[in-house]
Amino acid sequence: MKRLAVLASGAGSNAQALIDAARAGDLAAEIAVIVSDRSDAQVLRRAAQAGIPAISLPLRDRHNLDVRVTYDRQLADVVAAFRPDLVVLAGWMLELTPAFLDRFPRSIINVHPALLPFEGEATIKTTAGEIPVLRGARTVRDALRLGLPLTGASVHYVTAIVDDGPVILREEVPIYPDDDETCLHVRIKRIEHQVLPRAVALALAGERRLEE
Ligand code: GRF
Repeated sequence: MKRLAVLASGAGSNAQALIDAARAGDLAAEIAVIVSDRSDAQVLRRAAQAGIPAISLPLRDRHNLDVRVTYDRQLADVVAAFRPDLVVLAGWMLELTPAFLDRFPRSIINVHPALLPFEGEATIKTTAGEIPVLRGARTVRDALRLGLPLTGASVHYVTAIVDDGPVILREEVPIYPDDDETCLHVRIKRIEHQVLPRAVALALAGERRLEE
């Protein structure tokens, strides 16, 4: 059985989707560990409830580069101890430095609440026309602010450039006129919960960029 390490900072609904898919036999993988940088994160309770090792590793100072690098080394040691085949960032809100990334080459994927490009394009062709690429932590708000007709969810390989690595799967999510940030994010997450387990299976099989 392939082994996953899941890193998550918050509610953990994406981690839960992986737990459920593995339990249901829809995902042939075992979640070996769930790590959070927030000791009060709901995802740690979800892990404990599912009988999965739950590790809290708070970061002392996110603005001090030395602290960041030391933290990433510790994080990599913890994750490596569980011998994962794939590391899944499922709502992990810390940017990772090469001290972590270089320990798991081509083996880290991330779920992102917007459409990311397949080939590094600045815009994305969608069923409702071209839309800009939205990166960073505010993509749900940005999609509304820009008045986009739709946004989406993507799962991609993680590289040193944030929200930039090769896309494995992505799916559109329509934006309705009365959407606010909360309800749009809920709708995006519903799609993420479907796309993420499929993308994990593809990544474990060594595949990428198969479909849109
Ligand atoms: C998701 O929308 C994910 O794309 C983003 O953070 C959110 C995490 O949600 N990176 P949850 O903690 O999985 O519920």
